[in-house]
Amino acid sequence: MNNVASLTDFETPHAPRAYVNALVRFHHPFTFEERLAAAQSAGWNVFQFPSEMLKGGDLLSDSGTTTLTAEQFSQMTLGDEAYGTNWGYPKLIETFEKTFGISSDQWEVFIFHQGRAAEHALFTQLGKRVGQGAMIPSNGHFDTTHANIQANAMEAKNLFSRELDGGKEIPFKGNIDTVALEQLLAQDEQHVPLVYATITNNTGGGQPVSLNNLKDIQRIASAHHKPFFLDACRFAENAWFIKTRESAYKNISIADIVHEIFSLCDGFTISLKKDGLVNMGGALVMKKNSALTTKFPTLLNDLRDHQILTEGHPTYGGFSGRDILCIVEGLGTVVKEEYLASRIGLVQQFGRDLAASGVPIVEPTGGHAVYIDVDRFFEGTVMRREDFGGVALTALLLLKGVRLCELGAFAFGAWNSEKQCEEFSGKNYVRAAVPRNKYELQDLQYVADCVKALYDRRDQIPKAIPVYGRELTLRHFKARFALES
Ligand code: F0G
Repeated sequence: MNNVASLTDFETPHAPRAYVNALVRFHHPFTFEERLAAAQSAGWNVFQFPSEMLKGGDLLSDSGTTTLTAEQFSQMTLGDEAYGTNWGYPKLIETFEKTFGISSDQWEVFIFHQGRAAEHALFTQLGKRVGQGAMIPSNGHFDTTHANIQANAMEAKNLFSRELDGGKEIPFKGNIDTVALEQLLAQDEQHVPLVYATITNNTGGGQPVSLNNLKDIQRIASAHHKPFFLDACRFAENAWFIKTRESAYKNISIADIVHEIFSLCDGFTISLKKDGLVNMGGALVMKKNSALTTKFPTLLNDLRDHQILTEGHPTYGGFSGRDILCIVEGLGTVVKEEYLASRIGLVQQFGRDLAASGVPIVEPTGGHAVYIDVDRFFEGTVMRREDFGGVALTALLLLKGVRLCELGAFAFGAWNSEKQCEEFSGKNYVRAAVPRNKYELQDLQYVADCVKALYDRRDQIPKAIPVYGRELTLRHFKARFALES
């Protein structure tokens, strides 16, 4: 027996995934000519390109693209489609309590069909109350959060970590700049109704936020009597980084780290399409008694009315009964350490493969995506920011059956029609977001090969000239381009 134990007492360089495939889908064969025709008719806009033509990796988004588990499918057959208090609803509330460490006596849960619907409710109701001049600081607002804040006459203010452009040894580049937050509150406290933090920081390179930083934000916010909210889409992935990179949490379970994170906030919005491990779903969850509800005593009731008017009865929100059970199952899986090790390990390996081939990426790699640094990618070529090299890169990749997303000069820039020029502030990235439980390393290696091949030919990549939609809001979803050398 001893011999058996000692013979198998070795470490391996590779670890198995946390799961096996329970269902697979084969790609349909498409020719280069068919892809070219489709890309041209889509005006090279990746969002308009048919997904069935993507044989390599559809890394447009990690949102709602999760492959469900067999357990989720089995739960969905049990879904109860009752109009009031379907039997999954109490399970959902219990799961929220267990996952986030909250109690439904003290917290109000509003379920919405996706994250932005929850943001829309929160910022519409808040905007009515705080009016012009208000600002919402964050470590990095996602684009829908940003748009929902601005659409309600408030300013979405990003206080990115000063370390975001620093070296790859910096573990928590997603942190808020606490010095800037202190300054903002000291100078302009009356204009800040809420402090926000996004975990992980999708706009800031998918980078995690440390628990230390979250504690600092909570301390600073509460010293100014400001509520602190989280955009919690990737809470479990963020908790994994806290466990693996913040030494004080090395021996603490993911479940306990998650509880500690949520013990700091007064509320959160969440898109369950990420760490809910489902294809559709979101929520707004708020303390019944906080600085916010004290200041605005009718807020919770108005949010409830908003939900009923736009989504449905509070006990089903924007869901069908089967979706609710799918979320219950998904939240149970996402906090498992073997799942997170496998998921984040895959994304990290993808990042290492790209970096090893010389492609400039944001390092260290975050939890859900690899971000290609477009400015560095085109360094030494004639490509200027206003030539939208990132868009051109994503356009060419479509022809190889690979879809990435430009989140940079085009997505976050704007056309100034008075000055007749592009205006741009922010990061210039192309993001390769890895859907959960969908791809294996081989798929991502193919994506890395394609990006590398185009990197080697970077001085020949054409400009992407917007031929439609340059001046529109949220233009990356709608624009069309021509590729011009
Ligand atoms: N907050 C963050 C940090 C997000 O990443 C997203 C969506 C949302 C809010 C909105 O959630 O899509 O359910 O309405 N991010 C997706 C992405 C779209 O591709 O990063 P939603």
